[in-house]
Amino acid sequence: MDKVTYNGLTFEPYLTRDEIARQVKRVAEEIRRDYADDNPLFLCVLNGAAIFAVDLFRECRIKGAEISFIRFKSYEGTSTTGTAKQVMGLDENIEGRKVIIVEDIVDTGITAQQLLKTLADKGPSEVKLASLLFKPESLQTDVRPDYIGFSIPPKFIIGYGLDIDGQARNLSDIFVLSEEK
Ligand code: IMP
Ligand code: MG
Repeated sequence: MDKVTYNGLTFEPYLTRDEIARQVKRVAEEIRRDYADDNPLFLCVLNGAAIFAVDLFRECRIKGAEISFIRFKSYEGTSTTGTAKQVMGLDENIEGRKVIIVEDIVDTGITAQQLLKTLADKGPSEVKLASLLFKPESLQTDVRPDYIGFSIPPKFIIGYGLDIDGQARNLSDIFVLSEEK
C-alpha cells in the first residue's frame, strides 16, 4: 500500500482494512456475548466514530439494539467555567437504559471522561465505552474503554473515520504520521 499526503505531511500504512474488519468483528462478538438478549443503545460520538459505529452496530447482530448519534460540544455562550460540555442531539430518554458509547479513539481520555459524566447524570442503568483505538500511554484520566479494537502507541493516525483537519476520514485503511524527515 502506498503512502498518503495531507497538509504536506506524509502518512504510512498502519492498519489494513482487513485487520480493522477482524478487530471490529471481535469487539462485536464481545458485545453480543454481553448484550444478546438486551436492547442496548449504541451512542455514536460524531464525527470520528461514525464509520466504526455503523460497522460495529451491524456486526453485533443484536436484535433489540438501537443506535443514535450525538456530538459532544464545548458549551458555547456565556459559560463561566469554560469547561462545561453538552451533548448535542441526544433525543432519546436514556433513563434506565443500557448505553454503549462508541468512540473512534481514546487519547488523553478527557473527552470520554466528560461524556461519561454527562450521560451518568441522565440516569442510564449502565454505561459502557467501546473505542476502536486506545492510546494507553497518552491517558491522563482513569477512563479505560470496556471494549477496545486496538491499543496503539501515542502516534497520530488518520483514516477509517479519523481525520486531519476534517479530511482523510474516507480512507478505508488507517495510516500513521511518518517520522521520517
Ligand atoms: P481525548 O484526548 O481522549 O479527549 O481525544 C480527543 C479527540 O482527539 C478524539 O476524539 C479524536 O477526535 C482526537 N484524536 C486523538 N488522537 C487522534 C489521532 O491519532 N488522530 C486523529 N484524531 C485524534
Ligand atoms: Mg472524536
